Amino acid sequence: MTQPSIQSEQQHLEPMQLADQPDGNDQAEHAQDNKNGKEHRSVLTFMRRSSPLNTSQTQALQDYQHLIVEGPVHDARQLFKNPEHPLTVEIGFGMGRSLVLMAQAAPERNFLGIEVHVPGIAQCVYEAGMAGLTNLRVMDADALEVLKGLPDGSIDRLQLYFPDPWQKKKHFKRRFVSHERMPLVEQKLAKGGWFHAATDWEHYATWMLDVLDNRPALKNVYGKGNAAPRPDWRPETKFERRGHEAGHGVWDFIFEKI
Ligand SMILES: C[S@@+](CC[C@H](N)C(=O)[O-])C[C@H]1O[C@@H](n2cnc3c(N)ncnc32)[C@H](O)[C@@H]1O
Repeated sequence: MTQPSIQSEQQHLEPMQLADQPDGNDQAEHAQDNKNGKEHRSVLTFMRRSSPLNTSQTQALQDYQHLIVEGPVHDARQLFKNPEHPLTVEIGFGMGRSLVLMAQAAPERNFLGIEVHVPGIAQCVYEAGMAGLTNLRVMDADALEVLKGLPDGSIDRLQLYFPDPWQKKKHFKRRFVSHERMPLVEQKLAKGGWFHAATDWEHYATWMLDVLDNRPALKNVYGKGNAAPRPDWRPETKFERRGHEAGHGVWDFIFEKI
């Protein structure tokens, strides 16, 4: 499959994406922690949205509670029956359908999904529970905080599909892929492990490639300057479908920890 070229394809700011973009009170977009008596405010990559749960989602939070992990987690590999299986971590799985399909298709791997959107967490455990999956766990947490607690080199694949594009210049600092946040990702990836990102937002695609191609600890599996061909093992996500409907291109990037 031919990959759209980052340079040639122009995309327009679609009203759908502008409406979807979290853009609220900056006070609410910072995590606060108190180190040495000094307040430290870290910039968050998400905005928590409150949306009602439907009946099956509410029930799923009780019925499939065993699939939901409370933090802090010191070694996510130990959450699973087969802790020796390679660990995939997905950050911001949304409603979780593609994560469930991936876990179903790869019983020889373990999957940890991290999300802050409660209806998404509920929907994900509903679908995972109905499918009887044992190799998937989810957490309601800021993925950056979870990553900090995991052992170095313990993640085999880290996936970030259609992250919030934060398209306003004043919000670029919230983009997950950045020189500020990638050192943590690199530290937690095993040697030979993959960071796999996908986006339908051309400006973010160009940005991602610029950041990732200039990380000394990462190697572009498809060669410097190139997007990856869309992998057939990555199921379409909800935000990817919306992007297609809005006429956007899609770019996948696969980088190996060296
Ligand atoms: C645009 S949505 C994409 C959802 C899904 N991956 C898809 O493609 O349909 C981005 C999601 O990432 C989540 N998110 C962003 N930053 C996060 C973080 N630091 N920790 C956990 N979830 C995060 C948001 O809550 C949101 O649901």
